[in-house]
Amino acid sequence: MRTILKAENLKKVYRVGRVDVHALRGVSLEVQEGEFLAIMGPSGCGKSTMLHLLGGLLTPTEGRIIIDDEDLTAASDAKRTDIRRRKIGFVFQRFNLFPTLTAEGNLRLAERIHDDGGDDPERRREVLRLLRLEDKMHHKPTELSGGEQQRVALARAVVTHPAIVLADEPTGNLDTENSAIVLNMFQELNYRFNQTIIMITHNPEAAAMCRRIVQMRDGLIVEPPGGVQM
Ligand SMILES: Nc1ncnc2c1ncn2[C@@H]1O[C@H](COP(=O)(O)OP(=O)(O)O)[C@@H](O)[C@H]1O
Ligand SMILES: [Mg+2]
Repeated sequence: MRTILKAENLKKVYRVGRVDVHALRGVSLEVQEGEFLAIMGPSGCGKSTMLHLLGGLLTPTEGRIIIDDEDLTAASDAKRTDIRRRKIGFVFQRFNLFPTLTAEGNLRLAERIHDDGGDDPERRREVLRLLRLEDKMHHKPTELSGGEQQRVALARAVVTHPAIVLADEPTGNLDTENSAIVLNMFQELNYRFNQTIIMITHNPEAAAMCRRIVQMRDGLIVEPPGGVQM
């Protein structure tokens, strides 16, 4: 087992006018390569803040984050962006697909951003096949169902071989049937590619698919250190 992510004593304070919001109050987490981990907890407890810190979209007020042997917190803004592009794949509740590009075009754009001039048709085909999108690759987002759009977003997140996929309530905008399909795809990617995944979810069925569940409350992880092993 190899540690792919290590977060130590993360704190995040947002300044709103003259008020300090303590969104994270000292969170530590270690994730091994190949883990599929769920983060659960009530609205406002700091889950999204945590995920944004882990992915380098935000910087912590205090604490340290090591991803795949690179220190995200010691990095300059430019270096942090570089680490994020190379190591992280994001999936959001809103699918955030580029509206004028086809499914395959969205994957190609991700490859290009990930690695200047990146272009790996073989990998694109493999990922699209695994997510059962082969016959949808020339469709634009408006020509896809919600579940299909989220599968394209997931394909886009993994096409670049990220060290970690970070997903923030990826089934939050989907009906039960599409949620189940998308969750199965997450599980499949975890299983087939040994893809490390950290997923925020409110859905107990989603959490049940994960091998470990971390519970947060009020800016802290409250479950036993390391979370519950399933
Ligand atoms: N950009 C921001 N500016 C100020 N406060 C924020 C910001 N983002 C989140 N917060 C606050 O931080 C706390 C944690 O929010 P968040 O991480 O979004 O929680 P969750 O994802 O668990 O619902 C909440 O009190 C929220 O209002
Ligand atoms: Mg959130």
